[in-house]
Amino acid sequence: MCGIVGYVGQRSAVDVVIDGLRRLEYRGYDSAGVALVFDAPGEGDPVMEIEKKAGKLANLEAVLDGIDRPVAHCGIGHTRWATHGVPSDRNAHPHVSADGKIALIHNGIIENFSQLRGELESGGVEFLSETDTEVAAHLLGREYAACGNLTEAMTRVCARLEGAFTLLAVAADDPDTVVGARRNSPLVVGVGEGEYFLASDVAAFIAYTTEAIELGQDQIVTISRDGIAISGFDGKPSEGNPFSVDWDISAAEKGGWDTFMRKEINEQPQAVADTLRGRIDGNGQIVLDEVRMSDQDFRDIDKVFIIACGTSYHAGLVTKYAIEHWTRIPCEVELSSEFRYRDPVLDRSTLVIAISQSGETMDTLMALRHAKDQKARVLSISNTVGSTIPRESDAVLYTRAGIEVAVASTKAFLTQLAACYLVGLHLAQIRGIKYADEVSAVLSELVATPDKITKLLQDMEPVRALAREVATRTEQRVLFIGRHVGYPVALEGALKLKELAYIHAEGFAAGELKHGPISLIDDGTPVIAIVPSPRGRSLLHDKIISNIQEVKARGAKVIAVCEEGDDITRVHADHVIETPASPTLLAPLLTAVPLQEFAAELATALDKDIDQPRNLAKSVTVE
Ligand code: F6R
Repeated sequence: MCGIVGYVGQRSAVDVVIDGLRRLEYRGYDSAGVALVFDAPGEGDPVMEIEKKAGKLANLEAVLDGIDRPVAHCGIGHTRWATHGVPSDRNAHPHVSADGKIALIHNGIIENFSQLRGELESGGVEFLSETDTEVAAHLLGREYAACGNLTEAMTRVCARLEGAFTLLAVAADDPDTVVGARRNSPLVVGVGEGEYFLASDVAAFIAYTTEAIELGQDQIVTISRDGIAISGFDGKPSEGNPFSVDWDISAAEKGGWDTFMRKEINEQPQAVADTLRGRIDGNGQIVLDEVRMSDQDFRDIDKVFIIACGTSYHAGLVTKYAIEHWTRIPCEVELSSEFRYRDPVLDRSTLVIAISQSGETMDTLMALRHAKDQKARVLSISNTVGSTIPRESDAVLYTRAGIEVAVASTKAFLTQLAACYLVGLHLAQIRGIKYADEVSAVLSELVATPDKITKLLQDMEPVRALAREVATRTEQRVLFIGRHVGYPVALEGALKLKELAYIHAEGFAAGELKHGPISLIDDGTPVIAIVPSPRGRSLLHDKIISNIQEVKARGAKVIAVCEEGDDITRVHADHVIETPASPTLLAPLLTAVPLQEFAAELATALDKDIDQPRNLAKSVTVE
């Protein structure tokens, strides 16, 4: 949420910063801005230039392109997801101190900003925006005027701020320094030859270097052409965590696809295969990445909580069915944003599974910390190596989906499911398995899934045609129904459609329809039914066929997502989308795929930007 970039080096700072912002735009796109500091300006040359513009990055680029300027080698840039103050030129970052000497950008929320603003206003400072960020710019300007050292000034300011923040700042009279500070929001350093980068994530500088340093909590970093210095908020020298990025720039580009979302949908077979790769050893045992828990700790677990938000929460709902069935351990799934506020019962024998693609979602991070305070163990499932949530967990399984740029999650969801299945099977194995035969059969089926997803993706045109047809309806509402693991898939299908096409879409447990929501059905209302396999759990299949009949009797047009060869469903539904056969618990890895494609096509038909839906951001680092 909010993307930030800083640069010092031999290149043109405006080019590097804009290039970085382009790759971070998925973190927010309400407005964008840059501050550039010029070396040894000549007569009449600018010392520092600030440009900012509401709307997408393209608006800022248009402004920048129209100005002739000397080359600046030092700069910062920001792409915003608004928290305090509407998206406007005025509220866009950077914000500037009262004396005009400091420019500052911010990701996060400064919780004590109104108290600080009151204090600054009574000292005569005039505010130009409604943002919480502007207080930090004024405080930094005041401290810099007093001590003349940007790092020292930043340290003093951080001591006064409460909340979550990453700050980057430059001073007009220092064309060789960018200072950053980090508390609860991400910040990484890119290390090049005689050049350094600061950014919310490595995508911003991967075109220039793969060497990076991840900053820890409450650290301040200063970059200049000569090097980098890290200190704590207490002012004492400190160190970050160096790492090499193992993917290259092509992963962050569209690679011939018209949108990132289409590219990422089509990367799913490989992404799921990568999640599974090397995780099942020669004895069929599952291997986690980083484990600070013993096998005995896993055996002692008597309850599992899953915490997550949005699409990751839906992956958690599917996992509940799998974990309870395979391990017989009670498992609850809770939205991270609710978890810590209702005083859940946790102790040392509780395992909390935190699912987060970004590894930075503030709601999940706060829920995780609450769980740890109550002595629960935490296992995280994340796509972002070294991010905060895995770092604070007792055990980690990375999903290895590769960078996901489109705001709507697709390959992240499928790989979370695959990773969650591995965790469920790991728990089952470590604790002694009730359904030993079933568990080993499921493992082989899991390994076969990437090929089934490939097959499914080869025949998406009928799904796209249905989506285009639904897009022509004037009254736009789509209902999704499912039972068992089909229910979270219905929720996920509805979420994709809401966020991409901005139309009313709801997912329901099919059995709940008759308790109220069935009154939403009108003549022609599209209902997408996720139908379980007719093999094995035929009772479940029979039940959903009844639900299909109920909605059809009230005028619904039913599109059924069912297993290939399911002739019964074909008789009852208006249209069927067939998916390859799979064990019931693993079916979401397949049934979710046509729903992603359906939402993407329907939104495209309505002329919506499917990579950057309105009001959203990829990484939600505020509570
Ligand atoms: C929806 C979507 C969001 C995220 C949610 C959690 O398509 O992407 O609902 O799933 O914001 O994000 P992470 O997984 O990064 O914690």
